[in-house]
Amino acid sequence: MPITTCIFDAYGTLFDVSAAARQAAAEPDHAALADHWPAVAANWRLKQLQYSWLRAITGEHTDFWQVTQDGLDWALEAQGLDGDAALRERLLALYWELSAYPEVPEMLRALKAAGKNCAILSNGSPAMLDAAVASAGLGDWLDDLLSVESVGIFKPAPQVYDLVEERFGGLREEVLFVSSNGWDAAAAAGYGFTTAWANRGGEPVDRLPARPHHVLSDLTAIAGLAGA
Ligand code: LAC
Repeated sequence: MPITTCIFDAYGTLFDVSAAARQAAAEPDHAALADHWPAVAANWRLKQLQYSWLRAITGEHTDFWQVTQDGLDWALEAQGLDGDAALRERLLALYWELSAYPEVPEMLRALKAAGKNCAILSNGSPAMLDAAVASAGLGDWLDDLLSVESVGIFKPAPQVYDLVEERFGGLREEVLFVSSNGWDAAAAAGYGFTTAWANRGGEPVDRLPARPHHVLSDLTAIAGLAGA
């Protein structure tokens, strides 16, 4: 089945979520973060995702910017850094301008040159996604930025994956869904998309009802997988 549409998770997949803590730690004003930034980055991401799942389960939706702030507050307190208001403000500002992974622009260019539909499908709010895409200079290669805010529940609720068919039509297996989150790739595979898990951290596969079709170490093979 030829791939017509390539759909990308945003945070951790196109954009490097640890870049904010890494960059702030290198700034003289935030030397307090120097020894702690890997733990802050890991806990920030862990809590952000946990809060998204818990809010989906309990029906207490709020947007991704709120759970991003809540996750950071937990992560800073865990490292004894919760009294540093300037650090909190700096980390949150950097989250709006995360760098894209180096292989992303060439991958998107190749996909668009081959006539594929390309879009983001993310927990991120529309404003967060607009800012990240503009900051990384990816706007020319993306046909749309699909946000869970259209359905008011976070991934992996199937209503989120429905947004792809509503926007682009076609069959589920003609969609190549790409995520660095093993749970997101697994859920999308169960939904019926063709899936690629960008397993940048070399993690074990998630023990969930479905498994991703392709496991990659980064995004350089995506254009080839899509037939571009
Ligand atoms: C997203 C998160 C899950 O972009 O990375 O949807």
